[in-house]
Amino acid sequence: MHAAVVHTFAEPPRYDEFPDPVATGPGEEVVEVLASGLHPRVRSQADGTHYTATDELPLVPGVDGVGRRADGSLLYFVLPDTALGAMADKTLVDPGRSIPVPNSIDPVLLAAAMNPAMSSWVALKRRVTFTPGQAVLILGATGSAGRLAIQTARFLGAGRIVAAGRGAERLAALTALGATDTVDLAGDDETVAQELAAKAADVDVVLDYLWGPVTEKAIMPLLLARTDRSRLLSWVEIGSVAGPDIALPSAALRQANVCFSGSGQGSVSAAGILRELPDLVAEIGRGTFSVDAVARPLAEVAEAWADAPARATERVVLVP
Ligand SMILES: NC(=O)c1ccc[n+]([C@@H]2O[C@H](COP(=O)([O-])OP(=O)(O)OC[C@H]3O[C@@H](n4cnc5c(N)ncnc54)[C@H](OP(=O)(O)O)[C@@H]3O)[C@@H](O)[C@H]2O)c1
Repeated sequence: MHAAVVHTFAEPPRYDEFPDPVATGPGEEVVEVLASGLHPRVRSQADGTHYTATDELPLVPGVDGVGRRADGSLLYFVLPDTALGAMADKTLVDPGRSIPVPNSIDPVLLAAAMNPAMSSWVALKRRVTFTPGQAVLILGATGSAGRLAIQTARFLGAGRIVAAGRGAERLAALTALGATDTVDLAGDDETVAQELAAKAADVDVVLDYLWGPVTEKAIMPLLLARTDRSRLLSWVEIGSVAGPDIALPSAALRQANVCFSGSGQGSVSAAGILRELPDLVAEIGRGTFSVDAVARPLAEVAEAWADAPARATERVVLVP
């Protein structure tokens, strides 16, 4: 079969021949891949930098996708850490990590949406006690996951949704998705701190896709401006687009009732993540969320890797 194949972590994958997968037990089933998303998680898998990476090469990247079973039915699958990923004509799925999807669903849309959407869906359902009416701040709201986080928070009944990201035009577009306020993180430090304090100090939950210096500079202004610092603020770390580390002043933890946690593979079990997905699949199928997906042939994987997306909000999906 053909697949996107990583031969060295120093180079992007290329379209190549790869041995057909063979099912060897009841937890394995070969499916025809219809679509698989090129998520940031897949880029870090393919360059060996994700925290789950092993040194195993050659590697077919792709952590999830939509496939067709031998009986013609469709499923959405999440793969375990494996060197035989989803960016191939066929892959090996575990039926226990798969969700049946209706044949009417658009595989490209579903493959584009599931990974970024589940980041906030799982965080709000599993990592915090989120109740309708609560207020949410999203740090990194202009990306695929951030845009879906706005829509997920709205769907789950958030009262106020403050969307923070870079670029006035992209931020303005977030209001239509459900953002009630925006903060432009591209400003100077003082202005950003003041805006965050004015618009988001009293939120209940922070969904943080950025971390690094952006988060570091946001913590104290937000905490110090809270009307009641003893009221719980749940800060959920989901991505680290702006940097992997922060320095956290000890005073932050004493001066406010802030609880830092994370959401991702490990902090939520695979079984826990999977339990949340059928409802999410159903909502995506119903058209609840607006998703910017663009399909590219798997044979163009090298170009797809190298090209910057035409729009920063766009999620590329490879189609064998
Ligand atoms: N834990 C989970 O369950 C989970 C699941 C899915 C995704 N994630 C993670 O979530 C993160 C975001 O994923 P994504 O799919 O949304 O990626 P994406 O579509 O590539 O979006 C990333 C966004 O971050 C913005 N950004 C980058 N640096 C920034 C900075 N310094 N300040 C403000 N904005 C900045 C980018 O905007 P610019 O154009 O301004 O750079 C872009 O809009 C990734 O780290 C991903 O691995 C985690």
